[in-house]
Formats: sequence, structure tokens, C-alpha cells
Amino acid sequence: MRILLVCLGNICRSPTAEAILLQHLKRAGLADTVTVDSCGTGPWHVGEPPDPRAQAAAAQRGIDMSDLRARQLAVEDFYRFDYLLAMDHENLAVLQSRRPTDSEAHIGLFLEMGGMKGKAVPDPYFGGSDGFDGVLDLIEAGADGLIQRLQARMEMSR
Ligand code: 4NP
Repeated sequence: MRILLVCLGNICRSPTAEAILLQHLKRAGLADTVTVDSCGTGPWHVGEPPDPRAQAAAAQRGIDMSDLRARQLAVEDFYRFDYLLAMDHENLAVLQSRRPTDSEAHIGLFLEMGGMKGKAVPDPYFGGSDGFDGVLDLIEAGADGLIQRLQARMEMSR
């Protein structure tokens, strides 16, 4: 299974979600079963590492994101991934509008996959650094919920 996490700039929320989800997948013994990547719908930060505030907040939880580099959503992503999960409703709308008609990918909200219906991860970019800790809390909860769902699905198809 391949999951793509999508935000606006790919320097705050979605790289954080990529790193956290990968950490939780490893703990659950699913790192070989599920592939995770992230991207942004906007072009502004392509090639940049995650925002220093996002890196600092993740480092406090033992996660090193310094090797990640921002990239922009590409049409191939709609064929390469099974799930394209947006951090908020704006980026979900972009995914829906750019999705090729013959793509079979599932498109939705990241937190909704984690059991939090209709909920978005708020954009921390223009706020203070305490916004990043709240983002991390939401993403950790979303990652746990997502993994529980995946495990339940795998149980059913066994
Ligand atoms: P992200 O945060 O979408 O979580 O990576 C943002 C990063 C950059 C901008 C907006 C949000 N920006 O406007 O450049």
C-alpha cells in the first residue's frame, strides 16, 4: 500500500506527517507493508528542507526530518499512490480538481482516515512555534487512527 500526504508547501504539515506516520508504522511492524511520501500542492518551497520550526518540534519527539526535501504534486502521483490524503479542505479540493478521471486512487482528509471526521490539520506557517506542537499532537493521533484502520482492513482480508 502506498500513501501520499499532501499539504500546501510540503515544508510544515505533510513532511511532519510523513515522518510521524513512518515512525508509527515501524513501531507497528508495518514499515515494509506501507510506503509513505509527501508533497505540496504549491510550488514555492520545492527543494527546501522542512521549516526550521517544524524540524525543531519533531526533534523534541526524537524525529529527524533534515533529509526531507519539498516537492510539488505531480499527475503521476494519482497513479503511483493508493491513497492521497490532504491535511486540510483546501488541499483536498485541489486533489479532487487535479485528479485524472482514470485514476483509481482514494482521495480524502488525513485526519478523517484516522477517525476524525471532517477535521483538518491547521496551517501553522504564519503562526508562532507553539502551533507546531499542536500540529504534531493532531498528526500523532491521526497516524495512530490510520494504522488501526489499516490493521482492521488487513485482518478482514486475511
Ligand atoms: P505547509 O505550510 O502547507 O504545512 O507546508 C505552509 C508552508 C508554506 C506556505 C503556506 C503553508 N506558504 O505560503 O509559503
